[in-house]
Amino acid sequence: HSIKKGNFQWSAPSNIALVKYWGKKDNQIPANPSVSFTLNNCKTITKLAFAKKQNDGKFSFDLLFEGKPKEDFKPKIQKFLERIEVYLPFLKEYHFTIDTENTFPHSSGIASSASGMAALAMNLMSLEKALNPKMTSAYFYQKASLLARLGSGSACRSIKGSVVVWGNHANISGSSDLFGVEFPNAIHANFKNFQDTILLVDKGEKQVSSTVGHDLMHNHPFAERRFAQAHENLGQLITIFESGNLEEFIKIVESEALTLHAMMMTSMPYFILMKPNTLEIINAIWKFRNETKIPVCFTLDAGANVHVLYPNNTKEKVLQFIKDELVGYCQNGQYLCDEIGNGALLN
Ligand code: PMV
Repeated sequence: HSIKKGNFQWSAPSNIALVKYWGKKDNQIPANPSVSFTLNNCKTITKLAFAKKQNDGKFSFDLLFEGKPKEDFKPKIQKFLERIEVYLPFLKEYHFTIDTENTFPHSSGIASSASGMAALAMNLMSLEKALNPKMTSAYFYQKASLLARLGSGSACRSIKGSVVVWGNHANISGSSDLFGVEFPNAIHANFKNFQDTILLVDKGEKQVSSTVGHDLMHNHPFAERRFAQAHENLGQLITIFESGNLEEFIKIVESEALTLHAMMMTSMPYFILMKPNTLEIINAIWKFRNETKIPVCFTLDAGANVHVLYPNNTKEKVLQFIKDELVGYCQNGQYLCDEIGNGALLN
């Protein structure tokens, strides 16, 4: 391994799941397939500097967040490096400085694990490619997604493409439990520049970490039915992406969001992650959609914030509605405007 030192910088976006990943087996294998829209504006920018050292059997790295040392993220990175060493055998031959920042406010309640792990995986793959220049681009992105998955499951959907499937699905060619793949078929123009406005309802620390959350699906009374439903919903989305049928799209997406929360409400122990304002927002969206027939809908992550999803050609009216009627339900009136994006970028 002849490269002595250097650095790379990658940005990687967050993503929002339409069919949710909730429940996993060993080695970050998902219990069901999921699909997400890649975001464009909410991203992590990570610079990786590397310098050759003796392989003394230890990982060696410094971690900076917004330019300042960040000790409390280190155990997560250490664990990540341990998991991926088998795929990147050179890791102990370098000292790394990982310098990372997010474009969205931290403590916004927006998880940065997907974008953060994806950005780090891209950087490490750039070093791997520098050491093995013959690697194909397809291999590069597939392995980056596999590594990102080992950092945080949903991170494997933040590498490449605007609609990304993770997990084996009978009717999606190339789909795999090991990495995310770009949705293989053409996507209807209705989804072009699809908008996602993220309403920050509660910026507090997550009550339930996703690790705990996935665990709750072991011995969950409805787990098997839920996993089967995810396959069915993804199957329906295949047709919907092709037809552009937004009415059907909305049914699947909102049902998936509520099912995710239903799983948490019916696990042992049980949790309610929605806040009163989450429900106010959902009801206001339903009322607005009924009255205007504008195809706007919501989805949720494992928290109280609401993602408002709508086609680009309804942007003006929906943003006005958000400002007039929804901002009041957001903590300090905060929301983030995002839209569908294309994945990680070398800066
Ligand atoms: O990637 P994790 O382990 O943080 O899990 C993410 C789970 C959800 O965001 C709730 C759903 C998903 O598919 O992104």
